[in-house]
Amino acid sequence: MAHASAGTPLSALASGPLTGRIRVPGDKSISHRSLMFGAVTVGETRIEGLLEAEDVLGTAAAMRALGATVTRDGEGLWRVSGLGVGGLLEPESVLDFGNAGTGSRLTMGLVGGHAVAATFVGDASLSRRPMGRVLDPLRRMGVEVIARKGDRLPLTLRGPDTVIPIEYRVPVPSAQVKSAVLLCGLNSPGVTTVIEPVATRDHTERMLVGFGAALEVTAGPAGERVIRLQGRPSLKPQAITVPGDPSSAAFAIVAGLIVPGSDVTVENVLLNPLRTGLFTTLLEMGADLTIENERVTGGERIGDVHVRSSRLKGVAVPPERAPSMIDEYPILSVAAAFAEGDTFMDGLEELRVKESDRLSAVAHGLAANGVPVEEGETSLKVIGGTRRIGGGTVPTHLDHRIAMSFLVMGLAGQAPVTVDDTATIATSFPSFLGLMTGLGARFEAPQSAD
Ligand code: S3P
Repeated sequence: MAHASAGTPLSALASGPLTGRIRVPGDKSISHRSLMFGAVTVGETRIEGLLEAEDVLGTAAAMRALGATVTRDGEGLWRVSGLGVGGLLEPESVLDFGNAGTGSRLTMGLVGGHAVAATFVGDASLSRRPMGRVLDPLRRMGVEVIARKGDRLPLTLRGPDTVIPIEYRVPVPSAQVKSAVLLCGLNSPGVTTVIEPVATRDHTERMLVGFGAALEVTAGPAGERVIRLQGRPSLKPQAITVPGDPSSAAFAIVAGLIVPGSDVTVENVLLNPLRTGLFTTLLEMGADLTIENERVTGGERIGDVHVRSSRLKGVAVPPERAPSMIDEYPILSVAAAFAEGDTFMDGLEELRVKESDRLSAVAHGLAANGVPVEEGETSLKVIGGTRRIGGGTVPTHLDHRIAMSFLVMGLAGQAPVTVDDTATIATSFPSFLGLMTGLGARFEAPQSAD
């Protein structure tokens, strides 16, 4: 799953109106969790609409290596036959998570809850990312960690014979950290408590309840979320339909807003309120964005997101909104470049530890394409109103969302925008170029490639 550093560059060209209705692939967060929870459930969990992208396929391979049976039939239905909580086996080979932070960190929690040893490896991007945020609480739960490079991959975990149930206040707003603690706590003999001062995506909580775990969420005295999980539940197999990923839908939605004359609908998008911060922000910017055909499926709100090209205006994005749009700041910054007036985003410290340092990658990408930008330690100011956008090449640093965001920028630019590598798009959204082309987007190999 490693990507060649040479990369596959691509240019996005100014495109005519984008029109049409598309469906984006399944939600990445729910896809990872469906496979993992199925792996610790006795019986057959069926998953429709699983995201078939490198990150999630890495989790499927890891669950197989840990003893679960994971298959896909010709129609795209995935089946996971699990081993029950506490039943995972020691893998015979290393677990390679490629580029996937969620796959690796959640599996660390799962493996940490078992008295087995497993070695975690990843690509150059994942090997740079901090793992201490997950390893610190796991150590308190009794997990032994062998990491030679300062709590970074590659590392080996060995779970204890009996997991210690802890109370843990997550120091950073991270659903991955919260989930790793809960997954380790699944096999503890007591109650694991996670306190979240700031709410992050709650798929782990919702899905564990769906699988039959005794998990409750209450409000603490200062409004924090207090999550209590009773260990060693007997989980029941589920039939899961994964809704479309709002973080993938975001690219077509912003493209539809900034390319003149466009009319685009993305159907079947997950609208969990802890994921929809981008849509709220776009509406504040004056976007013609409506939710149609809203419904509830599998306990989640889903709808079709319809946009028409709009004159956007710059806004100040409240920092407390960050967790509900944490993966969407790169594409929001592209929308901001086409707005009248400045857009100010703050509270972005977590962007520095994503697949790349996204704050810096976005700032450089915008500047390379003529958009004035001010990068602060935890903030970004995008100056709107640039007359001529494009003409630059953007280094993507093994980051799929940087690649897709800047390709979208080129569709509405006055000159092509080139990204140095499109290979990483396959980690989360392999059909991105095909779907965008179907809407009318134009891409070509860069003219001046050496
Ligand atoms: C995810 C949590 C977020 C997000 C990532 C998916 C998850 O990461 O950026 O793409 O599925 O739990 P953090 O928990 O590090 O914020």
